[in-house]
Amino acid sequence: MSTERTVVRGGLVITAAEEIHADVLIEGSRVVALAAHESAVAESWTTGDARIVEAAGKYVIPGGVDAHTHMELPFGGTAASDTFETGTRAAAWGGTTTIVDFAVQSVGHSLRSGLDAWHAKADAQCAIDYAFHMILSDVNEDTLKEMDVLVEEGVTSFKLFMAYPGVFYSDDGQILRAMQRSAGNGGLIMMHAENGIAIDVLVQQALAAGHTDPRYHGEVRKALLEAEATHRAIQLARVAGSPLYVVHVSAEEALAELAQARDKGLNVFGETCPQYLFLSTDNLAEPGFEGAKYVCSTPLRPKEHQEALWRGLRTNDLQVVSTDHCPFCFTGQKDLGRGDFSKIPNGLPGVENRMDLLHQAVVDGRISRRRWIEIACATPARMFGLYPRKGTIAPGADADIVIYDPHAEQVVSAETHHMNVDYSAYEGKRLTGRVESVLSRGEPVITDRTYVGRAGHGQYTPRSTCQYLI
Ligand code: URP
Ligand code: ZN
Ligand code: ZN
Ligand code: ZN
Repeated sequence: MSTERTVVRGGLVITAAEEIHADVLIEGSRVVALAAHESAVAESWTTGDARIVEAAGKYVIPGGVDAHTHMELPFGGTAASDTFETGTRAAAWGGTTTIVDFAVQSVGHSLRSGLDAWHAKADAQCAIDYAFHMILSDVNEDTLKEMDVLVEEGVTSFKLFMAYPGVFYSDDGQILRAMQRSAGNGGLIMMHAENGIAIDVLVQQALAAGHTDPRYHGEVRKALLEAEATHRAIQLARVAGSPLYVVHVSAEEALAELAQARDKGLNVFGETCPQYLFLSTDNLAEPGFEGAKYVCSTPLRPKEHQEALWRGLRTNDLQVVSTDHCPFCFTGQKDLGRGDFSKIPNGLPGVENRMDLLHQAVVDGRISRRRWIEIACATPARMFGLYPRKGTIAPGADADIVIYDPHAEQVVSAETHHMNVDYSAYEGKRLTGRVESVLSRGEPVITDRTYVGRAGHGQYTPRSTCQYLI
């Protein structure tokens, strides 16, 4: 391991806990110390052959932790268009230095074979560090036993689906059993909370009535069916005595279920995503087939829900903002659902946009700078057992550091983004703030807006169990 010395000098260091004008000393891959600008201690670091990263007038923040991505996910007869190589490079461009992606168990197969397959996709491809959750598609005796082994190995969270019957769906009995198992082994159950059985009935009725446009995707996947599933998941977790993390919360009614559970002091957590904070059913209703660009599940909601989600982020009823990055090209992939919205592959691109969009929320006065870092870096790291290696800037932490220019102006566009997808969900959006440079374990990945990283720098990172329990 290199013991090369790097000093990040002159910036405002922002963590979830504090904002301090400090220089940061990095040795090799780790942060070793912070000291006040121009203090004798900080001055002593810059002698010799230290590499100096100038950050005057900039923010010095922990690299983002995106705890919900789907690189290369097979879905709806196609596969997410970002590979681990292209997707992690785009993540770095957007100031994210760790992703937690979802390995998938196929029906009839073991967790091990699914995990091996995802390792094979990611191995030697990633520009930044990565870890895995496991999607459970087939909960049976063998699966339950394997969960224990995976937790020991550092795959400490398991996603279950109450939606997508015939694909990823688990029934309530399977869900309860997986929760009971995780109550014993320390795993965290992540839930896709939508009543998929009821939704499938509404899909068939909509199609039979000739309602085939993308906007019907939002109409059949009703907020009440997200709320109902969220409520059911919470009660099942209470019966099992397990913590619960609900992914991609989009409906105000579902958030109310989380808030009620948290008011009772339960270990129930919620994640939302930038698309639910910044986009709405207005996008799904864009004319022609444009709405297909915004098809994801849970679906985008009417604008009123956005205010509720922002409030949830302020009150900590929602703790994490992840992207659910699952890109499909408009041409050739979203296309599959022309004439039948149910065949549009579900998912939106966003891994590159998350840190900037949330910074815009800081600029707009919706959240504080420290809350920005908390929901995008620190809490996802704690929730998924990566803290304090990831998610903060402190002695001993990995030197995953972003130099962020809070005054730079940018216009989001597919013309300039780095994700391997032919459109941007935020095309034309003006944002204040932009990533300038990125270090991953002390190595430059982006330097003054030039990519200097490499596929294979990113390492697989086993995780401990949830560090966020009440
Ligand atoms: O539409 C989405 N969210 N696609 C990715 C799979 C999932 O349910 O998270
Ligand atoms: Zn300063
Ligand atoms: Zn999901
Ligand atoms: Zn997802």
